[in-house]
Amino acid sequence: MADIETLKQETRVFNASDAFKENATISGMDAYNAMCADAAQDYEGFWASLARENLEWKKPFTQILDESNAPFYKWFDDGLLNVSYNCLDRNLENGNADKIAVIFEADGGQVTKVTYRELHQQVCKFANGLKSLGIKKSDRVVIYMPMSVEGIVAMQACARIGATHSVVFGGFSAKSLQERIIDAGAVTVITADQQVRGGKHLPLKIIVDEALALGGCEAVRNVIVYQRTGADVGVTAGRDLLMSELVASQSDVCEPEWVSAEHPLFILYTSGSTGTPKGVQHSSGGYLLWAMLTMKWTFDIKPDDIFWCTADIGWVTGHTYIAYGPLAVGATEIVFEGIPTFPNAGRFWDMIARHKATIFYTAPTAIRSLIKAADADEKIHPDRYDLSSLRLLGSVGEPINPEAWMWYYKHIGRENCPIVDTFWQTETGGHMITPLPGATPMVPGSCTLPLPGIMAAIVDETGADLPNGQGGILVVKRPWPSMIRTIWNDPERFKKSYFPEELGGKTYLAGDGAIRSAETGNFTITGRIDDVLNVSGHRMGTMEIESALVAHPLVAEAAVVGKPDETTGESICAFVVLKRSRPTGDEAKQIAKELRDWVAKEIGPIAKPKEIRFGDNLPKTRSGKIMRRLLRLLAKGEAITQDISTLENPAILDQLKDAQ
Ligand code: WT7
Repeated sequence: MADIETLKQETRVFNASDAFKENATISGMDAYNAMCADAAQDYEGFWASLARENLEWKKPFTQILDESNAPFYKWFDDGLLNVSYNCLDRNLENGNADKIAVIFEADGGQVTKVTYRELHQQVCKFANGLKSLGIKKSDRVVIYMPMSVEGIVAMQACARIGATHSVVFGGFSAKSLQERIIDAGAVTVITADQQVRGGKHLPLKIIVDEALALGGCEAVRNVIVYQRTGADVGVTAGRDLLMSELVASQSDVCEPEWVSAEHPLFILYTSGSTGTPKGVQHSSGGYLLWAMLTMKWTFDIKPDDIFWCTADIGWVTGHTYIAYGPLAVGATEIVFEGIPTFPNAGRFWDMIARHKATIFYTAPTAIRSLIKAADADEKIHPDRYDLSSLRLLGSVGEPINPEAWMWYYKHIGRENCPIVDTFWQTETGGHMITPLPGATPMVPGSCTLPLPGIMAAIVDETGADLPNGQGGILVVKRPWPSMIRTIWNDPERFKKSYFPEELGGKTYLAGDGAIRSAETGNFTITGRIDDVLNVSGHRMGTMEIESALVAHPLVAEAAVVGKPDETTGESICAFVVLKRSRPTGDEAKQIAKELRDWVAKEIGPIAKPKEIRFGDNLPKTRSGKIMRRLLRLLAKGEAITQDISTLENPAILDQLKDAQ
């Protein structure tokens, strides 16, 4: 991966074709600058008119931004609306009823197309089914489902009745699921019997059973099971119901529950710098507004587009750019159940060609692994596929290195598609810093400029602005409609994590470092400034993995750091001290495997350390603090040239340098 020094020197600039620019929703930098000027001049007026134009309100709002209880900001608070109404009913009213909403492709290749009318019916029936179980406004519903039309239906149905959903990614373990069910106080879990990935059937319902058996989930009254494979996964009488049976006798008319714009649409757990995940709470009105605006601005969405976001609904990208944004703008979208390498690593390119996708949005990790695969097997090289339907590409989740950007640009976009490198976070609800495809000159590796109305800046630890060319801390100086509202159950942690006193208490701290180019003002993200890792675009807290490791009976102490990785961006490297003597050779290999499996069970396979090194102890200061900075260097295999005079036990560095 290119390091920040090479990125800073990146001078290649790419522009959209004149034809693209001409037809773009935001066409040219003058248009972008004019929007930024509007926002700067009348910040609230800017957002209010967009909210009036884009959302359909049952009762119009009169308040715009309420800062009286900062940083617990409110947007459009006295307006009433329903997110599912805005995504579905509106499309029935404006001529999209028979338009395809979702082209679903299963792992094995079966394709199902669902129109807006059909999706609306399914959502209404399921919403009525949920109501028949006594689920009502503000109840929390955990969704633990595979990529499916039913997963989207479940989310939309919750939105329709005002229940707050919390989707848990299907790769999380029973224990992670249980923690989230408890923290959210869920009354129902919606799941599938199994999920299918790469031809394999993997458990879901059984993991739900395990999670509930771990205890503390007594609030859960029902488990609703979508039958994906039809496998026999057991039924707990009085608790478990089949989705098909629940909806069978329900009416397909369901009056939406009109909720305040601030009503929590969903909670999504993400990793922070401490051991417990944070329940990021999002609003209804502000969130949906941003989902729509970014579909229009960043993705330049048009009625004929076939939009494909390859994310999973278990992550925020799958919320904003699968479950809500594309539907709210009446688009046709592809939803894919499987993995990019099954039946072979040409799957994405084959699907783009077959479904004539026009906009393709994926993660740098996927691109990097597909580059490798294409190099290894020319039969699945993207050059062999007809990708001429594509007009726009996007990247999300982690920095994209210029080499991967160039490959994406050449081999997928055929030098004819702008690439939007979208920087954002679970907390921001949607894109924050990204090129506008018909306006912003693109520089490989840079997410370029903030969207209109987003007051992003780079400051030092005291909150003072830094000049362009000087790296610092990325902040957002004004609240924006789709921002995180609070951390569920933990408002204090919300304040401390995102609006720290040191920055004045009202400035949003993103948790990333960034630098702006002295010439263009473009932003480049330099990586997290906290103990959060980004592995294949998945966010992992080092403390979370450490807690899982020390919970193993053999482990006395553990420290986890990130290590740059060619494919996954970062990989997890764990330094472990056992309660017994330090293992070597085969024994070390065997214990490392056991610990890896343990972490997979505690958190999920995505948290497995790639590398585990055993030591007699860890490098610590005399006051007992683990020196992670040194561990990072050791993990990278770099020489330690800094002053180590504060180190209690310098000899340990040699041992950990090449320890197994
Ligand atoms: C973290 C947020 C973005 C939604 C999915 C991930 C990193 C994200 C970019 C980008 C450089 C990026 C940041 C951020 N990140 N997009 N385009 N360039 N870094 O959401 O799991 O909340 O992770 O992902 O470090 O803070 P998330």
